[in-house]
Amino acid sequence: MKAKRKKMPLSTCTTTSMVTPHFTKKPKIGVVGKEEDEENLSNECKELIHSLPKEKGWRTPFIYLFQGFWCQPKEIQAIISFQKHFQARDSDVILATIPKSGTTWIKALTFAIMNRKRFTTSSKNHPLLTSNPHDLVPFFEYKLYANNQIPDLSNLPRPRLFGTHVPFASLPESIKSSSCRIVYVCRNPFDTFISSWHYINKVRPESLPPFPLEEALNLYCKGVVGFGPFWKHMLGYWKESMERPEKVLFMKYENMKGDTISHLKMLANFLGVPFSIEEEKEGIIKDIAKLCSFENLKDLEVNKCGKSIKNFENKHLFRKGVVGDWVNYLSPSMVEQLSKVIKDKLGDSGLRFKAFS
Ligand code: A3P
Repeated sequence: MKAKRKKMPLSTCTTTSMVTPHFTKKPKIGVVGKEEDEENLSNECKELIHSLPKEKGWRTPFIYLFQGFWCQPKEIQAIISFQKHFQARDSDVILATIPKSGTTWIKALTFAIMNRKRFTTSSKNHPLLTSNPHDLVPFFEYKLYANNQIPDLSNLPRPRLFGTHVPFASLPESIKSSSCRIVYVCRNPFDTFISSWHYINKVRPESLPPFPLEEALNLYCKGVVGFGPFWKHMLGYWKESMERPEKVLFMKYENMKGDTISHLKMLANFLGVPFSIEEEKEGIIKDIAKLCSFENLKDLEVNKCGKSIKNFENKHLFRKGVVGDWVNYLSPSMVEQLSKVIKDKLGDSGLRFKAFS
């Protein structure tokens, strides 16, 4: 990359999260056209992008097939920088998802678990009451390495907590080879698809017409969706979690909804900060579940306004938060279409979704 990169010293970052920085530089709003799409890209990155296969994007004119997954030019530039510069530490925790699978929720839960000694759930100053989870656990590709920044993350308090949508195969080598932990949240493709479609229609530039459901489903079934194909994304982390369960914890959104308490215990154990019997008796696990619940987060002022991820209003991150909403949108033939893709692509991997297999 020949682009001019700014090495960002920690002192220029605010650390309201006490865990990770967020940057003071405010992004510009309204990415629409091709020129804007490629704005601020290095010539090298532009050249690369023009050599990649492309398809119609859900929100932007095109998305590109980079290292086997679909994403936008700015994401590609940020991911290349992330791959090149990020140095994982054994104590790091990385929260990985494909978009609309419960990213906001797992960020809130993990932040609350890891910081529970510092911020009790009853604290009026709990950061989750005044910050969106994406500000507390920043994305590598949307925040830390976006806009040509190379953040200096070396002085952050440990354990450091980060989020990403990047598929396992494309994570930086240091993440794969170190003992840092990865938590992956997977959601059934039916709900993930409907959630994505709603979201895209809310965040699409006003100049564009609504995105038809049929068109979205056809692209989704071809794998053409941000960070997709969805099956490849899920299987990458699934296989790794089978081979290295101490490295990757694979959780399912539906199971987390069904029994949040057991999943919080599992998550705390995996993170190496298990709940004590006293904590359980005091109701701390329940309190964390309640603090991070859809109903609670959605109603907080901080989540009703503002933008924690470039171009995206926080309020759109919270829609219904239920399992099975897809039945209200998909026709029988659409269900058949997606079921076939799921069956074909997940094959005998062992990854199944209860109501859909
Ligand atoms: P729906 O659109 O089905 O309601 P992501 O955080 O990866 O963008 O995923 C968004 C989905 O998670 C949305 O699903 C959103 O409503 C749901 N969601 C957000 N916060 C949640 C929470 N605290 N608990 C459960 N689901 C949540």
